[in-house]
Amino acid sequence: MEKLVITGGTPLKGEVTISGAKNAAVAILPATLLINGVCTINNLPNISDVKIYCEILENLGAKIEWNSDSEITIDTKNIKMAEAPFALTSKFRASYYLLGSLLGRNHSAIVGMPGGCKLGSRPIDQHIKAFEALGANIECTQGKIIAKAKKLIGTSIYMDISSVGATINCILASVLAEGTTIIDNAAKEPHIVDVANFLNTMGADIRGAGTDTIKITGVKELSGNATYSIIPDQIEAGTFMVAAVASKGDITLKNCITKHLESITAKICEVGGIVEDYGDSIRVYCNKRPNKAIIKTLPYPGFPTDMQSQMGVLLSIAEGTSIINESIFDSRFQYTEELNKMGAKISAQGKTAYFEGVKELQGTPVYATDLRAGAALIIAGIIAKGTTEVYNVDYINRGYENIEEKFRKLGAKIKLVEEN
Ligand code: EPU
Repeated sequence: MEKLVITGGTPLKGEVTISGAKNAAVAILPATLLINGVCTINNLPNISDVKIYCEILENLGAKIEWNSDSEITIDTKNIKMAEAPFALTSKFRASYYLLGSLLGRNHSAIVGMPGGCKLGSRPIDQHIKAFEALGANIECTQGKIIAKAKKLIGTSIYMDISSVGATINCILASVLAEGTTIIDNAAKEPHIVDVANFLNTMGADIRGAGTDTIKITGVKELSGNATYSIIPDQIEAGTFMVAAVASKGDITLKNCITKHLESITAKICEVGGIVEDYGDSIRVYCNKRPNKAIIKTLPYPGFPTDMQSQMGVLLSIAEGTSIINESIFDSRFQYTEELNKMGAKISAQGKTAYFEGVKELQGTPVYATDLRAGAALIIAGIIAKGTTEVYNVDYINRGYENIEEKFRKLGAKIKLVEEN
């Protein structure tokens, strides 16, 4: 078993380059199944979720060549299979995109129920509603979702909830459908725009991504033969921004789209961090104890749930009592118990947590309870007195590229240790 051993107390200083966005990559990779040809994707993050996705695509018949650590050329001409390998799809949440893309390509898809971080109940009723509206028949049996359609016909679909996954899945299923599909109350996250831009580059006709209403006019074929670059990861950037403020450091983040960071920047400034925005890079620094804040997680452009636990670390050492209200997921405060082991004073009740700021955290062994909680515990270790051991490193590797090395280059005393 691997653990990260961190000796705290060093302010982080220097430059870090942000990798491609995980949640865009895990949607764009299955989107290649809609192409009848070859495409090249670059700025792919080198993370385990991407590697698993590539394995799944190869299993389905795709040919993948790695041109570098962050670029692949993928040939999807010979995809014949409609059933995704269960052992791989159960490893993560984003496997649900195989439903939309295989349904779109073959009119048939068999995919195991998605796995992923345990953040409370995570239904997929809106995905199923969209597929059914397009003409598919869906059966859920023995842990598998079986989707079949004679043909897919464009229609109007109203999303009851702003759902990233359901919006993207609906786009995937309708790109090659007959006629026009309109998605109302669509989610607006930057990675949804990225998936639409990718598909349009390959020959699709999708308009309005990034707004409440997305219009997809079905096309006969996506021919590919193009190169696409994935957007930088908004959440990885936010994680380093929080680390800069929490450690009283000074970090410049390269390769980011600062427009995507506005809600995070606003909260960083509210707690006393100083942010200099250069459009495609951002400098964040702070030399004082953070102020308290009140945060509510919301769909984009609101404050992202995926930054909630990292921000929680910052508020655990803030002056005064802060409040976080988690409005997206039922159970995303498990990390607060780990922070309390480090001396934080957090009480979480249902979807609200109260952070009575303490002067400092103490190093101790802690367990990542999900991907973002893992990143938060690394930040906690970097600012804590003494040594912190972070277990369940696999969670963190799912979504952060070389996180240990990136933090080490900023001055953190962090090392990966193999433990029997
Ligand atoms: N929901 C439903 N029914 C549905 C779909 C969603 O009730 O059919 C609910 C969910 O239970 C949740 C809310 O709607 O309460 C929003 O869920 P959404 O569908 O937007 O989330 P997701 O697609 O499951 C993606 C990211 C998450 C990120 C959320 C919110 C991927 C693979 N995952 O999940 O990323 O937290 O959007 O932005 O894109 C992470 O990266 O750490 C992570 C968990």
